[in-house]
Amino acid sequence: MTKKESGFSVNPWEVSGKIDYDKLVKEFGVQLIDDKMITLIKNLTKKELSPMLRRRIFFAHRDLKPILDEYKKGNKFFLYTGCGPSGPIHLGHLGTWVFTKWLQDAFDVELWFQFTDDEKFLFKDKSYEEIQEWTYQNMLDVIALGFDPKKTHFLVDTKHANLLYPEAIKVAKKITFSTVKGAFGFDDSRNIGEIFYTSMQAAPVIVPCVLKKKKIPCLIPLAIDQDPHFRVARDVYPKLGYPKPAIIHGMFLPPLTGNEGKMSSSNANVAILTTDTEEEVKKKINKYAFSGGRDTLEEHRKLGGNPDVDVCFQYLKFLFEPDDKKLEQIYRDYKSGKMLSGELKSYTIEKINSFLKEHQKKREEAKKLVETFLYKG
Ligand code: TRP
Repeated sequence: MTKKESGFSVNPWEVSGKIDYDKLVKEFGVQLIDDKMITLIKNLTKKELSPMLRRRIFFAHRDLKPILDEYKKGNKFFLYTGCGPSGPIHLGHLGTWVFTKWLQDAFDVELWFQFTDDEKFLFKDKSYEEIQEWTYQNMLDVIALGFDPKKTHFLVDTKHANLLYPEAIKVAKKITFSTVKGAFGFDDSRNIGEIFYTSMQAAPVIVPCVLKKKKIPCLIPLAIDQDPHFRVARDVYPKLGYPKPAIIHGMFLPPLTGNEGKMSSSNANVAILTTDTEEEVKKKINKYAFSGGRDTLEEHRKLGGNPDVDVCFQYLKFLFEPDDKKLEQIYRDYKSGKMLSGELKSYTIEKINSFLKEHQKKREEAKKLVETFLYKG
């Protein structure tokens, strides 16, 4: 479906418009996470269910059931996700990784984390050197989220080419140019690295199996814009003798300016960066965060606000208010007009700043840990 037809666009290189997730589920052919699936996950894990699952921020999947059934029998999966290092990390990146950390703890499994420096070099107008610097900077943010260093392995595409490339070419040989054109809408003007790239993102599903000489099931948590890569690659794995990976899909954290597209660091005004100071966070939220409040105090008290379009409320729901009761109360108070937009903003600022304070401390400490996380084969 084109953007013109649906009013929005979701693919690895563009997320824009007002996203209709129900439409997306149909278009992508993924399954919604239902109550049965939630129960299954609850029964398999000892940790309290992640708020992002309770609230269906992670809302869809591919083949999750078989991988959980195997887990139940004692056959553990590994997790695989990644980061395209082309700029600073913002709150929008964190959702998938905070959830991945929950999965790692809850299921006690290994995580393979890919940094696609090749991808960002090929797709962005940035130098190789700049991308290398972002790779390092982004690693600090990932480490700061508290992944288990003994169970987490970083792969950098250009640094671990010895492991990735042999698998990438096997995948590439089974994907035609016309498939890639169809899936991504590429025309003949694209550089040839872009055409090849999906096979690099596909490779980490195979690498741990090769290293351990065993077919290990793989679960990929991702934001749903990354699904097309795996839609193309999933058919290839069985042809190479590997199981299709399972996928669990997350929604996008909205940009400050409102419920369209996703937070992105190409415009610093619509993104909150993990390195922002308390003052910057305060300023950005107060100045730019789209509010579901009314124009005047009287109107707001009388008619109430709209939490469903309010960006601060969305941030609390996604990441910053794990307490369901508290979140519900805010929802009710804001909707009834008891809570004002300014009050919701200060509450959110405080929550984000207390998270970032801790994150920035851990981010500093992470500098000593980068080497530990990089896979040494
Ligand atoms: N392409 C992703 C990005 O631009 C990075 C990535 C690599 C990834 N491998 C992944 C994301 C696996 C999710 C799952 O951010």
